[in-house]
Amino acid sequence: MYKIGVLPGDGVGPEIVKEGLKVLNVVSKKVKFDYELVHYDFGAERYLKTGEILPDSAIEEFKKLDVIYLGAVGHPKVQTGVLEKGLLLKLRFALDQYINLRPVVLYHRVWTPIKDKEPKDINFVVVRENTEGAYCGMGGVFKKGTAYEVAIQEDINTRHGVERCIRFAFKLAQKRKRKKLTLVDKANVLTYGHDLWQRAFDEVGEEYKDVQKDHAFVDACCMWFVKNPEWFDTIVTCNMFGDIITDLGAVVQGGLGIAAGGNINPEGVSMFEPIHGSAPKYEGKNMINPLAAIAAVGMMLENMGEEEGAKLIDEAIKKALTCGKIENMAAGKMGLSTTQVGDLVADFIS
Ligand code: IPM
Ligand code: MN
Repeated sequence: MYKIGVLPGDGVGPEIVKEGLKVLNVVSKKVKFDYELVHYDFGAERYLKTGEILPDSAIEEFKKLDVIYLGAVGHPKVQTGVLEKGLLLKLRFALDQYINLRPVVLYHRVWTPIKDKEPKDINFVVVRENTEGAYCGMGGVFKKGTAYEVAIQEDINTRHGVERCIRFAFKLAQKRKRKKLTLVDKANVLTYGHDLWQRAFDEVGEEYKDVQKDHAFVDACCMWFVKNPEWFDTIVTCNMFGDIITDLGAVVQGGLGIAAGGNINPEGVSMFEPIHGSAPKYEGKNMINPLAAIAAVGMMLENMGEEEGAKLIDEAIKKALTCGKIENMAAGKMGLSTTQVGDLVADFIS
C-alpha cells in the first residue's frame, strides 16, 4: 500500500492534478497496486488566509510518505518568490531531492518549432542538480534602495553535492541506449564553481568507461538544443542552468503542456510535477493541457518501482497524441478540454 502525498497547489494545479489522479486510479486497477492519497492544501489560498506556507511539522509528515505528487505553485496575489521559496524550494531542500530529472522527448504527431526535426532527433534527459548552486538562498544586501546598493547572491557548489549529481547522471546514461553524458557548464567564466564540476565529472567518469563523455558551455548548449538536438542523450548541469535549459527543452518537445519532471532523492522521498507553472489566467477554465501532469504520474510510478504502470501511461499518452483528437498542445487550442484529455488517456489504459 503506497502512501502518496498530493499537493495540488495554486492556479491550474488542482485541475491538472485531478486528471493525473484519474489516470493513476485506472492504472492501479489495471496493474493491481493499492495506494492511499494524503491531500495537503498548501499554497496561495492557505497562505493568504493563515500566513502559513509550509510548517516544519508538514515536512516531518512528508518524510513518512512514499512519494509526493505536486501540481503547481505561485499566485499573482502573493509576492513573487514567497511561495516558490517557501514551498517548492523548501520541499526540494528539506527532503534533499538532489536530482531534478527532466526528460525532453518529442512524441509523434506533436508539433515542434524546430524545422525538420522529428521524434528520433529529440530524445534526451536533463539531470539538473536540485539543492545547491544559485538556489541556495545565500547572500544579502547592503544599503538597499540607495544608489550604493550592493546585492550579493552566492552560487554554492559543494564537492559532495556535485559528485552525487554527476554519479546519478552517469548511472542513468549507462542505462540508456546511447550511453552518452554531456556536462553543461560555464567553466570558462565560473572558474571556481564549474572547475569543481569539471574535475568531479572527469574523476567520476573514470568509473564509467562505457559512457561517452561530452562537454558543452551552457550558451552553446542552448544553440545546439535548437540546431542539433540529436546530439544530446543525457545532460548533467547545475541548478540554475538546468532550470533555464529545461524550459527551452520543453518548447523543443512541443511545449510546457507536455513536459514533466521529478525531484528525486534516490534514498528518500521524491516529488513529481509538471514543469510548467500555475498559469493563473487559465485557472478554473478547464482549458489547460494535463498531459505534463499525467506524464509526471508516469515518472512517479517508475520511481515507485511500478514500471508496468509507468509504461502503460507512456503508451496511453502516445495513443492520445496520435489518435488525432488533440489538435494542439497549448491551453485552449487542444480542441478538447482538460477533463476530456484526461478521459482520453484514461480510456486508452482501461
Ligand atoms: C522550475 C521552476 C522553479 C525553479 C521556480 C518556480 C522556483 O521554474 O521548477 O523549473 O526555478 O526551479
Ligand atoms: Mn523553471
